[in-house]
Parts: sequence; C-alpha cells; structure tokens
Amino acid sequence: MQLLQPKRVLLGVTGGIAAYKACELCRRLLDLGAEVQVVMTPAGTRFVTPLTLQALSGRPVRTDLLDPSAEAAMGHIELARWADLILVAPASADFLARLAAGNADDLLTTACLASDAPIAVAPAMNQAMWRSPATRRNVATLIGDGVQIWGPGSGSQACGDEGPGRMLEPEALLAHVQTALTGAGARSATGRSLAGRHVVITAGPTREPLDPVRYLSNHSSGKQGFALAAAAAEAGARVSLIAGPVDLPTPGNVDRIDVLTARDMLTAAEHCCRNGADVFIGVAAVADYRPATPAEQKIKKAHGDTGLTLTLVENPDIVATIAGGVPRPFTVAFAAETEQLVAHARSKLERKQVDMVVANDVSRKDIGFGSDDNVVTLVTAEGDEELPAMPKVALARLLIERIASRAGLSPTAGSKGHDVTSAMDKSN
Ligand code: C5P
Repeated sequence: MQLLQPKRVLLGVTGGIAAYKACELCRRLLDLGAEVQVVMTPAGTRFVTPLTLQALSGRPVRTDLLDPSAEAAMGHIELARWADLILVAPASADFLARLAAGNADDLLTTACLASDAPIAVAPAMNQAMWRSPATRRNVATLIGDGVQIWGPGSGSQACGDEGPGRMLEPEALLAHVQTALTGAGARSATGRSLAGRHVVITAGPTREPLDPVRYLSNHSSGKQGFALAAAAAEAGARVSLIAGPVDLPTPGNVDRIDVLTARDMLTAAEHCCRNGADVFIGVAAVADYRPATPAEQKIKKAHGDTGLTLTLVENPDIVATIAGGVPRPFTVAFAAETEQLVAHARSKLERKQVDMVVANDVSRKDIGFGSDDNVVTLVTAEGDEELPAMPKVALARLLIERIASRAGLSPTAGSKGHDVTSAMDKSN
C-alpha cells in the first residue's frame, strides 16, 4: 500500500549499533511509497556502509557537508527544503547534544537547522547515557524546540545493560511516520497535531467539605494538568480544563471550569465528554473519600478526650467512569506511586480500563508534587516507556505528542521489542 506516496523523508543515520535497523526502516518506508534520502554522519558510516543504504534507497547517500559534486546535484539548503519529514534513526547522544545546541558542523545537523519540516529523532544509546543529566537537558531542549522524540524503548542492551535506550523497532517508527505525515496525529497545515480535536483534562486537588469552614484535600499544585492543557491548546485542540482549587492562571485558548468536590468534577467531566471528546486526561488528585454528611454548622471542639470520629464514603472514580462511558474518548490516567511504579500503574491500567497510565514516583523529593520538574513512565497495553526527567512544561508537550500518536494509529512507542535490537552509542 502506497500510504506515504508522495511524501519525502530525509532519513538521518548517526553512529550507533542500531544503525543496522535503519536499513530495514529505509526499505519499509520505500514499500509504503515514500521517497527516502539518506544522510549519514561520519560515525554512522562506521556502522553501516553508505553503499548498503544507497542500494536500498535508490539514491546516493549524502555524508559530507562540503562535497562539491553532491552540492552541485542538490545543495544542503535544497535538501533541507526537499524533506516533508526529517527522521534521525538512530539518534546518538552526541547527535542529540549537537542538535540541541544548534550546531551545524555536519550535513545532518545543518539540514535540521535549515529545514522547516517536522524533525523526529529515535534515540538509541546505553541506558546510563540516556539517563544522564546532560542527555535529559538536551531532550528537554529539543522538546521545547518542537522536535518529536520517538522512543527509546526499554530492555536488554548490546552492552549487557538493562533499561531504556533501545531504538524503537522499524515497525513502531513507521507507525509514528504515518501518524506524523498522514494519520490522526498528522500536523495540519498550521503544523499542529491536535487541530480540530477536543481534549478534556482534570487538574489540581479536590476539596471535600467537613463543615462550612473545613475540608479534606491534598497538596496537588495543578501544575502538570495546566501544563498539559497549555500543550494541548498549542497543538491546536479545543481544551476543556476542569480545575480543582488551585492558584494558577488559565492558559491561553483553554476553557476552564472551576470545581471543588470530586462529585462536581465528575459532573463537569461527563458534561464535557457527552458531546464527543477525543481525549480525556485525568491529572487531578481526586480525593478518594469524602465526609459522609458534611455538618451544616461549624463542628465545635469537644471538651474532654472523646476525640472526633469522621465517617467517610468513597468518591466516584472519574477517569474509570469516563473510560466506561459511551462515547468513549482515548483515556489517560495518572498514577502517583511510592514503590513498584510500573506494576502498580499496570494494575491501574487494567482496573480503570484506560488506554494509558502516566506513572510518577512521588517518593523522590526532587520531582513530582509542587515541583517544576517531573519524571514519568508511560504504561500502555503494548509496553512501558520511561521518559527522562524534564520540566513539567516540556513533559506536557511530549505527552501530548505521545497521546496524539497513540490515539490515532496506536504506534507501539516504547514497547519492548522481541529481537536483538539493543543500541550502543558511539560519539560522532
Ligand atoms: O486510583 P488512583 O487515585 O491512584 O488513580 C489516579 C488516577 O485516577 C488519576 O488519573 C486521577 O485523576 C484518577 N482518579 C479519578 N477519580 C478518583 C480517583 C482518581 O479520576 N476518584
């Protein structure tokens, strides 16, 4: 099927063992009707020969920024203009650093810098390199610059380590390419992946009254939910933000509905989803219980040692109710855990029947509640994907891209592959 005809993909190949998977990716892109121009970094050519990729792509592979004969055929600026999508797979740690810094020290970084086309990278490196603060900073910068980060997956690595850093399988990357170029998550003419979609988000804490002056609540700041609302609006969606009591400004182009209790939040969520929401994201820290009967008058202090006994009843589960409703949006839950992060998130995925759980470890003091940074693992039926620590604003953009992509063609980003695909970075 010529699904990608007449799309033009500039396939960048940098220096990592996963470069061998670029050969299969190139062939599969051509099978789908895409035109593919391969550009390799010098380190990339040490892993796979340009001749192999030339034979597969049917075009001379470009490796050199200052090659007069290649420049005579298609100069580097023309090359940058030619592409509908630049996909760098594998993208080494060194390449991510150079792209984040805005370097133009080889043909591939120069083409990225000179192009208006969407840029996607498929990181591939040793797990410690992926987790390193420098790579995290670079990935956060790239997300802020609008670069799409596809993967990496998690699992065993060529160097013997276990963890995140494996390049996504060609199959998963193809699904991303199709979504980016033609699918539900395709960028519209305005370059926005959620144009025309309706996204409903809950954020902040709920407040459950005990009496007219007291309530039960929690420390949720609402920052992550508000950042997601801003990112969804930036991506072109119509956004309904159902906010518990928080002291945050409403992001631009977002409809805000303020609520106090969990039951009010549920009513607002059902109302927003009734006419067809495409995506529902439950970020709110909803109180699990509420006082059974809030006192009508202020509860007086009891003198003596009798204490005060409160009877609590369970609140409705908003995200599970929406996931079980008709029509059913693509539903995402958040999970704040202090131990066994992925196992608990996976059981939440099944129990609440949602499509994705965004799990974060709230036992860490440096991230999560109230802080500006967050580190999460995405858990879906297909697998899990640990994202590097990054500011909530950058994470929100990345989550919106992942959600847009999953809600459309369900590419298996981050799923554990089955063949030997570990990646080991070699700097360029
Ligand atoms: O079950 P737990 O509270 O750990 O699940 C957290 C996820 O479920 C979050 O996405 C939260 O917004 C959602 N939730 C909900 N309604 C509740 C409790 C949690 O929507 N009553």
